[in-house]
Amino acid sequence: MAVSDLLWRYAVKRFDPNRTIDSETWSRIEQSLVVTPSSFGLQPWKFFVIHSPEMKAKLSAISWNQSQPSDCSHMVAMAAMHTVSEEYVDRFIQSACKARNSPPESMEGYRRVILGFLKQKQGQHLSWATNQVYIALGQLMSTAASLKVDTCPMEGIVASEYDKLLGLENTEYHVVVGCALGYRHADDKYAQAPKVRFDPNEIIQYI
Ligand SMILES: Cc1cc2nc3c(=O)[nH]c(=O)nc-3n(C[C@H](O)[C@H](O)[C@H](O)COP(=O)(O)O)c2cc1C
Repeated sequence: MAVSDLLWRYAVKRFDPNRTIDSETWSRIEQSLVVTPSSFGLQPWKFFVIHSPEMKAKLSAISWNQSQPSDCSHMVAMAAMHTVSEEYVDRFIQSACKARNSPPESMEGYRRVILGFLKQKQGQHLSWATNQVYIALGQLMSTAASLKVDTCPMEGIVASEYDKLLGLENTEYHVVVGCALGYRHADDKYAQAPKVRFDPNEIIQYI
């Protein structure tokens, strides 16, 4: 990941509807979602990849009529967990034991620390999980940029309508943000627009 990739990327306003991300490139992008780090490694998320033109068109209608969901190649709806249950933690511990070939007893202390943390955060799991989802969003955009794939992060969505469309009502997941991926349209004037950022001296302080 080079800084030049970060300067190359911008939030695409107009995607080229005729270009699709090939499956090999997509699988590398998908991997960046899977390996996203999270607090305790709990991965309190689900990512919905919408590739079908019919579904993408429906998403534009519930995204403030922005064109990115329908014109992009892959639209990712990123969902966070409302409540992280003890059963979920146990499933996570089991998967950790399997990955590291260690007995469950060796992780009992860790398990208790996680449960204590979650108890303390009762009622705030969604906002905590949302923080984790945004790490995935950043990693997704950076990886895409390194592969010269364009993105637009999207909070301009009606999350409750996304939940409905994706069948997430009455589940433990709630869509919190979207990300459109594909290729910029040749006529997207924002590609040439200079970056708007505060001076580094204003936002970075050395102590
Ligand atoms: C979390 C988040 C949500 C955003 N939502 C939208 C959106 O719904 N529509 C849009 O066109 N741009 C959206 N943006 C893009 C920002 O406006 C853009 O990133 C910012 O102006 C900086 O410009 P740049 O990304 O082109 O460097 C969003 C950005 C972020 C990080």
